[in-house]
Amino acid sequence: MQKKQHKSNLNFPKNFLWGVATSAHQIEGNSDNNDWSLKALKKHSQNIKWAKNAQEKIPDAKQACQSWEKYKEDVELAKNLNCNLYRFSVEWSKIEPECGKFDQKAIEHYRDQIKQAKKANMQIMLTLHHFTNPIWFSQKKGWEKRSSLKYYLRFVKKIINEYENQVDYWITLNEPFGWTSCAYFMGIWPPFKKNYLLGYHVFNNLALAHKRAYKLIHKYYRNKGLQKPKVGFVNDLQSYSNYRKHSLLEQLKVYFIYNFSNHSFIKKSGKKYHDFFGVNYYYEMRVNKKTGMKMEQTFNAKDENRQLTDMEWLIYPRGIFDVLYDLNDYGKPFIIAENGIATKKDELRIRFIEEHLEEIYYAIKAGIDVRGYCYWSLLDNYEWAEGYRPKFGLVKVDLKTGKRTPKDSYKFYAKIIQDNGLYWNY
Ligand code: BGC
Repeated sequence: MQKKQHKSNLNFPKNFLWGVATSAHQIEGNSDNNDWSLKALKKHSQNIKWAKNAQEKIPDAKQACQSWEKYKEDVELAKNLNCNLYRFSVEWSKIEPECGKFDQKAIEHYRDQIKQAKKANMQIMLTLHHFTNPIWFSQKKGWEKRSSLKYYLRFVKKIINEYENQVDYWITLNEPFGWTSCAYFMGIWPPFKKNYLLGYHVFNNLALAHKRAYKLIHKYYRNKGLQKPKVGFVNDLQSYSNYRKHSLLEQLKVYFIYNFSNHSFIKKSGKKYHDFFGVNYYYEMRVNKKTGMKMEQTFNAKDENRQLTDMEWLIYPRGIFDVLYDLNDYGKPFIIAENGIATKKDELRIRFIEEHLEEIYYAIKAGIDVRGYCYWSLLDNYEWAEGYRPKFGLVKVDLKTGKRTPKDSYKFYAKIIQDNGLYWNY
């Protein structure tokens, strides 16, 4: 049969936000004062049962992508992608290196970053907490204590005071569930504790921290007579499914894990304390008979012998539609705050972006209010415990010189943004 050539445009709504996302510790360098710094990792070693020394498992970020110096270049790269949204985080340990002492230089640094991005016609989505904690905060037992809230809120207050209406979208916390799981349920991230009860307590503190930060930011804007702010958090949404549709046991496992991971933070922090939902979506987790309720046992994608990402994650574009559809019952707008793939094969990244955007397009068609999309990540960056091996970036970075080289996927994404949608050439 002769193949008919046609172009059908999957047009995204007018004013759709197209962006890229980054986080401070993963790209900046000079982060030697938080719980992921070399200094802290050495100290952590005693907590880790599975490694004599934390550095054996957790590579040091070193100078990362040198974005502390090269932030203007990064803004330029986002601008040349045609982005109208830029998501990045402020590094708490740089802004407040000692408890209660703020570093004006660091504050000015981020002020300029915001200014540059605004000048390039991008809206700002600012993450206040992206996995790292200042060492002084960890020494006070961090989020394990209720007192963590007063330190976090003091920091939030300082930031809104400084940048107030320059920020378009405030993100209180990045992936509270994912972070708690790695840090306290699985114990593979600082502070490397494997304690479910303590983790649950930490999770509750994070939910309360979100709610209070939400109220604080809204109150600040109200008192100053500013237009209402947009405050949310970023939820790590996973699609879960069971292999055996006939098995009640597997279905129950999916039910519990799914609700705990995707819904519990919203419920705990209170549905009304969210102006929008930030969504990170990467993969699907499969549950089978052998899968216990322990987090790490849900990762069994390797058994399927499919094409996985370099993180060994199962690629499942349809899952982004499913989680959006499910969470739509809360009636909030969504912004995809992260979606991306670790791969050395850039053509796979292109396919990944295309297929996930297609699902988002159909979610919008189904009446779901998705307002924006950020690809994770602009640069090949420091991928936490995995170091520099996984390549998520649209731009390659030479870690020695800091030289940035856009990949084909960068050009591909730039074209999508320019067209405000996808053109199919078949
Ligand atoms: C995090 C990022 C991380 C990405 C890829 C998200 O969970 O917010 O910091 O690099 O996933 O693993």
